[in-house]
Amino acid sequence: MEFAAKPTSVRGLIARLLLFGVFILLFRFVYVVTLRGGSCASGDFCFFPSPSSEGVPGGMSAGSVVSPEVSRLWRSSKWRQAVEFYSAVFQDLVVEGFLSPAAKSLCLDTHAGHEVFALKEIGIADVIGISKKNSSPLVIAGDLLHLPFGNSTVDFIFADGSLDRTATPAELAGEIARVLKPEGFLVILTASAGDLYSLYSLEVLFACCKKVRSREIDGPDSLMSLREIVFQKIQFIEVLLHKGEVPEDLHPAIGGESVYSKCSIPEHKLRLLSSAEPLIEEEPQKPWITLKKNIKNIKYLPSLVDISFKRRYFYIDVGARSYGSSIGSWFKKQYPKQNRTFHTFAIEADQAFHAEYATKKGITLLPLAAWIRNESIPFEVNHDPEQNSEEHGHGMGRIKSLGASMNSSSLGNLHKVQGFDFAEWLKSIVSEKDFVVMKMDVEGTEFDLIPRLFETGAICLIDELFLECHYNRWQRCCPGKRSPKYQNTYGQCIHLFSSLRENGILVHQWW
Ligand SMILES: *[C@@H]1O[C@H](CO)[C@@H](O)[C@H](O)[C@H]1NC(C)=O
Ligand SMILES: *[C@@H]1O[C@H](CO)[C@@H](O)[C@H](O)[C@H]1NC(C)=O
Ligand SMILES: *[C@@H]1O[C@H](CO)[C@@H](O)[C@H](O)[C@H]1NC(C)=O
Ligand SMILES: *[C@@H]1O[C@H](CO)[C@@H](O)[C@H](O)[C@H]1NC(C)=O
Repeated sequence: MEFAAKPTSVRGLIARLLLFGVFILLFRFVYVVTLRGGSCASGDFCFFPSPSSEGVPGGMSAGSVVSPEVSRLWRSSKWRQAVEFYSAVFQDLVVEGFLSPAAKSLCLDTHAGHEVFALKEIGIADVIGISKKNSSPLVIAGDLLHLPFGNSTVDFIFADGSLDRTATPAELAGEIARVLKPEGFLVILTASAGDLYSLYSLEVLFACCKKVRSREIDGPDSLMSLREIVFQKIQFIEVLLHKGEVPEDLHPAIGGESVYSKCSIPEHKLRLLSSAEPLIEEEPQKPWITLKKNIKNIKYLPSLVDISFKRRYFYIDVGARSYGSSIGSWFKKQYPKQNRTFHTFAIEADQAFHAEYATKKGITLLPLAAWIRNESIPFEVNHDPEQNSEEHGHGMGRIKSLGASMNSSSLGNLHKVQGFDFAEWLKSIVSEKDFVVMKMDVEGTEFDLIPRLFETGAICLIDELFLECHYNRWQRCCPGKRSPKYQNTYGQCIHLFSSLRENGILVHQWW
């Protein structure tokens, strides 16, 4: 008996399942056709409650009292227009399965609540907007960086322009990640992220999540296109595996041949490099003219891409010398900053320059020598007239290579200074979420520091690099004579620059 009964019940179950499946399909079809066929307000096939004669969307009326003023606003054609735009966006998201009627939903930084209205209208009942200003009954007042919701409590978050408007996108991203449920969806609309670089910066801010879709859509007025990005929060274990604290960029490539090939090369960086000014491949006869002139050709990164989706902004001046030599005269005045506030690190071992930094705001002085290890090293204070001392304001310090023979004449200028592991320091200070501009003028030590930056992966943290490469250049004073100060050749410098560019680093020949 038992055996006979079983097939029947299984068959019954299958039949019921099939019927259920058909019903679901039918339901979905009607749902989609209805929603995509136009607004419920005018449709004949409306499945969900349409706005009542008061203009109140379906799920809205229960419990909330709408003033005549608000209800008049909701019936205006301007309101209707804005709502239509969002309706179209949400209907697509429903069709794709990113948004379900039961989703506990949140719209961030919405002005009047058009998004909330549109969501209610398509049948998402549990939705609220949050903004600086309360706009009852759709939007509550609140602080975006301290959302009044518990951890992992929201299924769907919609952020139209909020990441563009905030001054602290990384913090907002953190707060979104906190309240979103695992497997919940976040949908961002942004007018930025038009270039790959910016899009990548944005993605890096959402380590919580994986990107499931990114596309361009027409904005509300069709004149401007927007980017729509859909993220899904991943489970904790996946977070650890895929998006830990160490950015993917920093995982060294496997089987690299030289130290110069340790950095993986993201496409957004390569794209950018094709717009960079070309390197001067041939050694200039008059470097003090050619290389100096080249500064005018430099394509600054913030003039090529949008840098707004970064957590913090840093200028790191390695071999800073006096404040006026580059921070004050060049970085403050000429480097395009897209209205962002940069914090500066001045790294300078020569004590002669230290005092003036004490009074400068927004600058941290590291009175040390950038080096490849923590150790005390001989440091030569150089007052070579060939080095345009008067122009740079002062002479320059130079790390004397440890193996170099030192005789009595050179020892007179040698001090011991504390060197530090620059690459490790950089990794401890900044992450891929930050924007890092670096100038390096370290009197030949670049041939030690750059390979070390590659070796440690720290190189990938640098967004833009202004590098003065020191070689045995032709001297201005004495035609036909090369500078005896440096052993490296121009060819070695070009190799250094090319290696950097090949690895996706926007490096410029600095003078
Ligand atoms: C909520 O998440 C934040 C950060 O994600 C964490 O610091 C905090 O302890 C969590 N709160 C609770 C109650 O779990
Ligand atoms: C730059 O930022 C300041 C304040 O941070 C703001 O008042 C100003 O409008 C901004 N300018 C531009 C062009 O964005
Ligand atoms: C170098 O010194 C810093 C600061 O004292 C320390 O944090 C770091 O671990 C040291 N690094 C090495 C490689 O010893
Ligand atoms: C000392 O070194 C300098 C350059 O480093 C060199 O010109 C000079 O001849 C050397 N003097 C002696 C005595 O070796």
